[in-house]
Amino acid sequence: MSATYETRDGVAVVTLNNPPVNGLSYDTRRAIADGIERANADPAVKAIVLTGAGKAFSGGADIKEFGSPKAIAEPNLLSLIKLCEDSAKPTVAAVHSVTMGGGLELALGCHYRVAAPGANVALPEVKIGLIPGAGGTQRLPRVLGVETALNMIVSGEPVKSELLAGLPGQKLFDKLVEGDLVGGAVAFAKEIADKRPLPLVRNLKVSHPNPDAYFQFARNTVKAMAKNFPAPPKCVDAVQTALTMKFDDGMRAEREIFMALMLTPECKALRHAFFGERAASKIPDVPEDTPVRKITKVAVIGAGTMGGGISMNFLNAGIPVTILETKQEALDRGLATIRKNYEGQVKKGKLKADKYEQRMALLKPTLNVDDIADADLVIEAVFEEMGVKEQVFKKLDAVVKKGAILASNTSTLDVDKIAAFTKRPQDVVGMHFFSPANVMKLLEVVRGAKTAKDVLATVMDVAKKIRKTAVVSGVCDGFIGNRMIEQYSRQAGYLLDEGCTPQQVDKAIEKFGFAMGPFRMGDLAGNDIGWAIRKRRAVERPDFRYSKTADLLCEMGRFGQKTGAGWYDYKPGKRDAIRSELVEKMIEDYRKEAGIAPRKVSDDEIVQRLVYSLVNEAARILEEGIASKASDIDMVYLTGYGFPLWRGGPMCYADSQGLFNVAQAMKRFAKNPRDDAKFWQPAPLLAKLVADGKTFT
Ligand code: NAI
Repeated sequence: MSATYETRDGVAVVTLNNPPVNGLSYDTRRAIADGIERANADPAVKAIVLTGAGKAFSGGADIKEFGSPKAIAEPNLLSLIKLCEDSAKPTVAAVHSVTMGGGLELALGCHYRVAAPGANVALPEVKIGLIPGAGGTQRLPRVLGVETALNMIVSGEPVKSELLAGLPGQKLFDKLVEGDLVGGAVAFAKEIADKRPLPLVRNLKVSHPNPDAYFQFARNTVKAMAKNFPAPPKCVDAVQTALTMKFDDGMRAEREIFMALMLTPECKALRHAFFGERAASKIPDVPEDTPVRKITKVAVIGAGTMGGGISMNFLNAGIPVTILETKQEALDRGLATIRKNYEGQVKKGKLKADKYEQRMALLKPTLNVDDIADADLVIEAVFEEMGVKEQVFKKLDAVVKKGAILASNTSTLDVDKIAAFTKRPQDVVGMHFFSPANVMKLLEVVRGAKTAKDVLATVMDVAKKIRKTAVVSGVCDGFIGNRMIEQYSRQAGYLLDEGCTPQQVDKAIEKFGFAMGPFRMGDLAGNDIGWAIRKRRAVERPDFRYSKTADLLCEMGRFGQKTGAGWYDYKPGKRDAIRSELVEKMIEDYRKEAGIAPRKVSDDEIVQRLVYSLVNEAARILEEGIASKASDIDMVYLTGYGFPLWRGGPMCYADSQGLFNVAQAMKRFAKNPRDDAKFWQPAPLLAKLVADGKTFT
């Protein structure tokens, strides 16, 4: 039953019941429509209350139906809203908890609205590249005024019901009900049951004292903020029609804008990311009802760069952390960094002082391994050396209670080998955080050959609690993200060999939308990290080819920002990348020595080679089953590597370019003698998709 019907004291109560958030699915819409018709047919009923069961009034469209014929089957949302408006008996929406998107638009179609305090009220469509499509842009300005309504629509952010109810002149809520919402709504419905005419939001006047100046201002502000996103400026256009057009014409204008946005690549990319985020937490062979282990106490081993940031995630979520080090100085240093980070947040007004103290009170520093014996989850973040990991995991195996999850934050080592240091490999998993670990959204969950399903389910659940986007990766060198970035870095190096400067490469890819180009990124992360990896590669894979310029840079001691010089120069204490003549000369000398005549490389070629190198490696990762779906790879790149959100990630972007064209470009690159012909053979999966006329996503 997706909506229930009952009568209370002469008032019909129609309760949406489609967990988790009462999405307006076809069945739910039907059930609401039936309820309204039934109430109108019953002479004993004088008014109708519409409310939601459980955790929401309604979160809007049912995402399970998105894009399917059911989503628009009659009664569609517009028809349902009309039914509420046209009802001969008054309709009263009783909203609470979550009242968003189509849910709010439905409430705006009712004659009256009452609200519980604390409800999150929003029109979040802009976040998936759309504008509200069922009257939101026309009705919200009529009840909240143009400015408040536009702020809500253009940001998509929720506003608390009590705040909205307190705005002077607002007509969104007729009453705020403390305590029993449905009881209060029924009482309110009885009070207004005989009042006629029935009020309609569509009939309210909307005005602004200085509309032209205001909309000009709004347009400029939005343009500056939403450079690559087409929806926000369209929100301004749509809200303006509420002022300049009759209601029905405004509705038509809203519809037209909505439909046009739906077809834009940016909207497709944003929807892909929205669904990709939800899909990432689902693991094909781990059923959703897999029981999870209870995680109430966490231990972190190592208080270095990563250990501190990892700990903060749990402290922020109210989960106690014991942090273990080998030496007092290292422990003190780690704690001081955590304090400094929190104090920075307090100074900026992002964290209240008492919250800061509460968080620090949850942190227990120790040098004694016995103090972590009762942890439910242990995350190891010690030096990246197999010998050190071996010591640590053997110790954990001996000390930590049975049933605890033992996780490693290793970024390059084999999780199966680490698991084999214990007698409980089923409890071992990789939790690969990204630096700074308290900031970056991405968490790669590395599934070992023996990792138990309930361990995976638990870690995915924990990731949600600490607000990370968790993506499962199989065991391989570099996992998903770093394995791909290695190919991208190699291409960046070849581009230098062939005639580019670091700035040219960075600029081209930053113009494409990456937060940072490969060379600025190297300077930030430390060029010595890649150097160490390449030295290892030289031993493991003697055929591993790359531009030697990166090694020459490190031989000059230019490790990046931390040494004040890398691919760029840096002024003390500043992060601005300044062109380095020394580096350019090093590159030129290298070319001369290698007998390479430099050529002019176009920005298009730079972007294609960098992005398609990600795509080709990703196709191999998919085929090997290291990632279980293309959208997981996109989520890794969107949340961990600064790939432009409006392009939806490398796989979504490749699809948008046409995989045929992508494969053609790869074949062209394979002919470049300075490049790696073997790498550029389109991955078998890509070749197959091209042959079948299919896409990654
Ligand atoms: P770090 O050198 O900053 O910190 C390591 C800490 O572990 C040091 O404070 C050290 O005293 C401590 N330690 C060493 N042996 C220990 C033991 N037996 N018991 C307790 N503490 C011990 O290293 P960082 O950068 O934090 O890296 C830690 C791990 O995280 C490595 O496996 C690394 O590959 C991985 N990682 C690092 C990233 C980064 O950007 N730095 C990103 C993702 C993963």
